Amino acid sequence: MLVNLIVNGQPRSIEVAKGEFLLDTLRHLDYLSVRRGCDSSSCGVCTVLVNGKPTPSCSLLTVRLDQQEITTVEGIAKEAEKLATHFGHEGADQCGYCNPSMALTVYAMKKELKKPTLEQIKAYLVGNLCRCTGYQAQHIAILHYLEDQS
Ligand code: FES
Ligand code: FES
Repeated sequence: MLVNLIVNGQPRSIEVAKGEFLLDTLRHLDYLSVRRGCDSSSCGVCTVLVNGKPTPSCSLLTVRLDQQEITTVEGIAKEAEKLATHFGHEGADQCGYCNPSMALTVYAMKKELKKPTLEQIKAYLVGNLCRCTGYQAQHIAILHYLEDQS
């Protein structure tokens, strides 16, 4: 089936199988920042933004997304880089596997919530699991990122 997506602001027309999930479609299109973890909507590592909302791409059928806007971390490179700098300062980077999904969720939160508290940050990120860090350094880095006006 032919599906028209808007990926990072670019129109993409692609042939997909009926049962193909967005995670596989994006990886076939070389958006390799979109990662596979549990493959069952539990870990959040495959998160992308669908019309601005963080969504696990492993559980979305691509055929249902005709004309929808998809954002991967490549589409928010500048903000992701800024967040990565704060992660680095706080020692919040370990294997980095969760970083693209985390950056997208934090970006969506920044747009949605004005000056979120630590508790709100934790609640917003509840669907993004990280197997390495224990979260504390990440949360501090996110607070610094949200304060960063540069
Ligand atoms: S791979 Fe999609 S939620 Fe885990
Ligand atoms: S840094 Fe390894 S999964 Fe998050």
